[in-house]
Amino acid sequence: MNGQDLTRPESQKATGFAGAPPLISLKGITKRFGKVVANNNISLDLYPGRIKALLGENGAGKSTLMSMLAGRFKPDEGYIEVDGVRADFNSSKDAIKAGIGMVYQHFMLVETMTVAENVLLGQEGSFFINRREMNERVRKLASDYELEIDPAARISDLSMGEKQRVEILKLLYRESRVLIFDEPTAVLTPREAFRLFEALWAMTRLGKSVVFISHKLEEVLAIADEVAILRRGKIDAEVPRDKILSKADLACRMVGKEVLLEVDKEEVEIGERVLEVKNMTGMGLRGINLDVHKGEIVAIVGVAGNGQQELVEGVSGLRKPPEDTIFIMNKPWRKFFAEMTWNHSMSYIPEDRLDLATARNLDLVDNLLLTTRQGFTTGSILKRDKAASIAAELVKEYDVRPGRLQALAWQLSGGNLQKMVLARELYRQPHLIVAEQPTQGLDISATEEVWNKLLEARKMAGILLVTGDLGEAVQLADRIVVMYCGQIMDEFHVSDTDKLDNIGLLMAGVRE
Ligand SMILES: Nc1ncnc2c1ncn2[C@@H]1O[C@H](COP(=O)(O)OP(=O)(O)OP(=O)(O)O)[C@@H](O)[C@H]1O
Ligand SMILES: [Mg+2]
Repeated sequence: MNGQDLTRPESQKATGFAGAPPLISLKGITKRFGKVVANNNISLDLYPGRIKALLGENGAGKSTLMSMLAGRFKPDEGYIEVDGVRADFNSSKDAIKAGIGMVYQHFMLVETMTVAENVLLGQEGSFFINRREMNERVRKLASDYELEIDPAARISDLSMGEKQRVEILKLLYRESRVLIFDEPTAVLTPREAFRLFEALWAMTRLGKSVVFISHKLEEVLAIADEVAILRRGKIDAEVPRDKILSKADLACRMVGKEVLLEVDKEEVEIGERVLEVKNMTGMGLRGINLDVHKGEIVAIVGVAGNGQQELVEGVSGLRKPPEDTIFIMNKPWRKFFAEMTWNHSMSYIPEDRLDLATARNLDLVDNLLLTTRQGFTTGSILKRDKAASIAAELVKEYDVRPGRLQALAWQLSGGNLQKMVLARELYRQPHLIVAEQPTQGLDISATEEVWNKLLEARKMAGILLVTGDLGEAVQLADRIVVMYCGQIMDEFHVSDTDKLDNIGLLMAGVRE
């Protein structure tokens, strides 16, 4: 189904690096945050011309380990060797000087400047280079690494995939020899992800060493030369790619038990209509008609930026839609939000869990209270004890780790924070749930748990799911709606395999 074949073609293999000594050796690295031992005596070698995947459950310690290699944190114990020589990094500058670069999920680009200007920004001597020369250098670099981009384009006009290419070019321009990618495909479409892989392969052919962190097992299988599995701060195993038999085998090695990678979709009776979008035009959308009933999941799929965001903002109350276009639980939009109660109404699970869904400097109890405050008050008195005991129950039920109630939101790993948000929003027993990329960045066990929770939740609610992950849409949805350029291209039942086979075309705006 719309399957991009991710396998590495023979021509993409890096050769000539067999037997080379490691570029980087991590030696007995330990890092603690208070009582949490994020990395426990980790040793790991990175070789030229090879891609090492780091795999592990949410909170296993992957980002922490790589942040130390990139100079953002200092290890409490252990050290790093570059070309066999001990190197102590006091800042990311030191790591960059040593040829180590990391591509973060939040891009650090100047939106009003061009691609070439961003790439050369802050580089020695770049002040004296004229624009033509600048563009020429960036064009040449981009073509060496198969990173197609227009050096003169302005950043603000670029897609996520293109912006990421600029971040990569910045590292390559500085001649980084080790490139670290922390969940780089989360923001990419399947096509863009494949183009990133081609660039990674090009890097290895030129002798670079790549670290690739991802929760998507098919990607890990496609591009890794070896997989290091982290569990609870320790390296659990290092496995060469050709020893891994299948996705299920890899999942099992990672979690330590068999994982299904599939959910059972129980039949649920369809109930009353909880959302109606009627001929909505405006906010970049054209003629949108959509219904969601209690008992069903309707998935909106499409390449990011085709109107999904605007639709969600309208439905969830973040932006005022045109008059008489959105009805929630049979009330006009304005009336619904004016009268909305904390429970039995609507829940919104946004993509941005750290700033929109939670308050990063508040603890878990206060984060629970963010949207449920009214449920824990008598008159004007807040019953924080009751909130704390419910929070404790939810933390247990949703297996949020570490389950310490005093933990602040920003200290949780992505997956654990998402489980906390979901726990809070489902506790409100909503009738309509708007869930945006609910499993982005989650490990396979957490993904499975979230999928099961959402399927269970449709017994009480209708769910509007916005996802960039077609696999997720197929697993969860009853109906699939494809959006392109602010319009609905098509809507069909998930059992319609003919439509599913053509979904890639629909997403690209092609109607047959
Ligand atoms: N700055 C910090 N302060 C306190 N604890 C932290 C900090 N950064 C990470 N941790 C904790 O360290 C552990 C490892 O977190 P890390 O972010 O490295 O995990 P991860 O493997 O990258 O997880 P994910 O797959 O969810 O991104 C977690 O328990 C996390 O809560
Ligand atoms: Mg991480």
